[in-house]
Amino acid sequence: MRAFRYSSSGAFENVLLSDEPDSAPQRGEVEVRVNSVSLNYRDIAIARGDYIHPVTSGLIPCSDASGVVISVGADVHTLRVGDRVISTFHPTWFGGRERNLAPSSSYGNGVDGWLTERRIASQEALVKLPEGMSSEDASTLPCAAATAWNALNGDNALRAGDTVLTLGTGGVSLFAVQLARAMGVRVIATTSTDEKARFLKSLGADEVVCYRETPAWGARVKALTGGRGVDRVVEVGGAGTIAESLDAVARGGEVVLIGFLGGVAADIDFLRLKKSEATIRSISVGDRANLETLVRAIHVTGLRPVIDRVFNFEQAQAAFGYLSAGQHKGKIVIRLDERDTV
Ligand SMILES: NC(=O)c1ccc[n+]([C@@H]2O[C@H](COP(=O)([O-])OP(=O)(O)OC[C@H]3O[C@@H](n4cnc5c(N)ncnc54)[C@H](OP(=O)(O)O)[C@@H]3O)[C@@H](O)[C@H]2O)c1
Repeated sequence: MRAFRYSSSGAFENVLLSDEPDSAPQRGEVEVRVNSVSLNYRDIAIARGDYIHPVTSGLIPCSDASGVVISVGADVHTLRVGDRVISTFHPTWFGGRERNLAPSSSYGNGVDGWLTERRIASQEALVKLPEGMSSEDASTLPCAAATAWNALNGDNALRAGDTVLTLGTGGVSLFAVQLARAMGVRVIATTSTDEKARFLKSLGADEVVCYRETPAWGARVKALTGGRGVDRVVEVGGAGTIAESLDAVARGGEVVLIGFLGGVAADIDFLRLKKSEATIRSISVGDRANLETLVRAIHVTGLRPVIDRVFNFEQAQAAFGYLSAGQHKGKIVIRLDERDTV
């Protein structure tokens, strides 16, 4: 079978096709024929060598996949041949606070990921899909959508009538916009261009602030809430945006630390942090239970992920390049196999 591997770090061009041996599922494992894989920012960060976690070199990239179970090992009770499934981002974190997040279990940097025609996985590391969800849509859920869902919910879930601030038009942020609107939460979004601002409005954002025109966008966002501030910030910018995010959040609100699009080196202003009176919650996607409730929510609401572009398997390197260029909105998907049944 064929898979892509990071051959060396430094550039996305180093993601190369390789021939792989076939293997069979062992006790408690299933074999998945991969239909679709979606890309996340971390996949190119690993390729470029600037990921924030330790990286084992030479692994198969990508954490997010959908596929069909084509064979099962002994003692597999939760899945059957023919079931359609998605990967879970943290294959050994099932729920609760006690997280077993050994970096060695993370796809693409700790263990082989999902950019492969077939993969063996533990039955516990997969979530079954409901009827009717397309493979491409489903492949976008394990990381970006699950992260947005955790950010909006967590221990202190937003409620209808609350206000959330989202940053930009990447995968996590667009899911946050869509899921928040489905929850009855008001959305204020930032972005870089007027064209993207129109797109965010068409997706349901109530207000959009262009950060290029309004560098002090935190104060502008606060003004849009009548001076109170937003209940939650879905913080994907990191060092480049945290100061403005702290200006935008309400006292008693929550800033969910997610990303590092704007870098990692920030001089944190202690007084700004203290005076915000906000809770800071740093998350790593979420547990299996979070993904299961997300899948149910997507199914019931009929929410359709924003997929910017679909590449075929042979074009995987071009897909990495497209993500790296940063001109996309939402998700980028690689389609491996058209067959949704065994
Ligand atoms: N901790 C976690 O659990 C977790 C989970 C998923 C992702 N992440 C991280 O979260 C971040 C976002 O991931 P993603 O997959 O949504 O990324 P993405 O799809 O690559 O997002 C790109 C978009 O973000 C905006 N952007 C780019 N540079 C920015 C900057 N310096 N400041 C603010 N906005 C910027 C741009 O939108 P506009 O032009 O509209 O501004 C750009 O189109 C990444 O750092 C990723 O590694 C963390």
